[in-house]
Amino acid sequence: MTKQVALVTGGSIGIGRASCIALANAGYKVVVTDVLGKEGAEVVETIVAAGGEAQFQAMDVTDTAHVDGVIQTVEENFGRLDVVVANAGIAKKVPLSEMTDEAWDITHEVDLKGVMRVARAAAPGMRKRKSGAFIALASVVGTAYGWDEHVQYAAAKGGVAGLVRGLAIELAKDQIRVNAIAPGFIRSAQTLDPYHSVGEEGLAAAAPSVPLGRIGDPEDIADVVVFLASNAARYITGQVITVDGGLLVAL
Ligand SMILES: NC(=O)c1ccc[n+]([C@@H]2O[C@H](COP(=O)([O-])OP(=O)(O)OC[C@H]3O[C@@H](n4cnc5c(N)ncnc54)[C@H](O)[C@@H]3O)[C@@H](O)[C@H]2O)c1
Repeated sequence: MTKQVALVTGGSIGIGRASCIALANAGYKVVVTDVLGKEGAEVVETIVAAGGEAQFQAMDVTDTAHVDGVIQTVEENFGRLDVVVANAGIAKKVPLSEMTDEAWDITHEVDLKGVMRVARAAAPGMRKRKSGAFIALASVVGTAYGWDEHVQYAAAKGGVAGLVRGLAIELAKDQIRVNAIAPGFIRSAQTLDPYHSVGEEGLAAAAPSVPLGRIGDPEDIADVVVFLASNAARYITGQVITVDGGLLVAL
């Protein structure tokens, strides 16, 4: 059987990297895309060393021509693109008093419009084949929580939830499923940044408030990516699945 093909944005580190590896372990041919080339090449090496198939494509999700070109190349090379994981994201600390239009826009360009760009480019092929799964990374910030001095991030991630719901209906008639994952605290470069996020100390302080008693690992999200991509999730679309160790339901 020909392998299914999965493309991951922001696949070089963190949740994206773990998703690439988990998808390869699940039997997908993986296209690792990112603005970080060296780290992306290392992800490919890791997958290939474990007997999987992967390739790296440089892709900046803020660049429409770039996104369209990479997805066209993947379609031409493999004749299919079954799964897209729109994971690339940035979270910058910007107090409202310092918020410029540019600071607002760059977060939306990556975290929200970047998700739309890959969906827009991948949809025509999926529609033709009447099959596909699209998975976006939202966040509990924006879908449930606020985050002071990160309002542009919260707004963009809330926007991802709306985008996924709308797209799910628009693409359902062509059997394309569209879902999002809203992670809680996951250990990654993003959360370990002590200025723009909570840092190591902040994660340690947050861990006791997580009912499952620990900060999540990227692999905790990657396994849900694989599930949502798979036929096991064949009747799930338009959902934002919270993966937070119970954080949201805790008193
Ligand atoms: N870590 C968490 O606790 C957490 C919680 C909720 C949501 N998320 C979301 O999950 C996703 C992954 O987060 P992470 O923690 O692994 O972050 P990370 O900072 O470790 O990785 C983000 C990746 O996105 C890439 N990226 C940034 N701008 C890009 C661009 N313009 N084009 C292409 N790639 C770009 C980076 O190079 C990097 O590889 C993000 O969307 C993030 O907002 C993370």
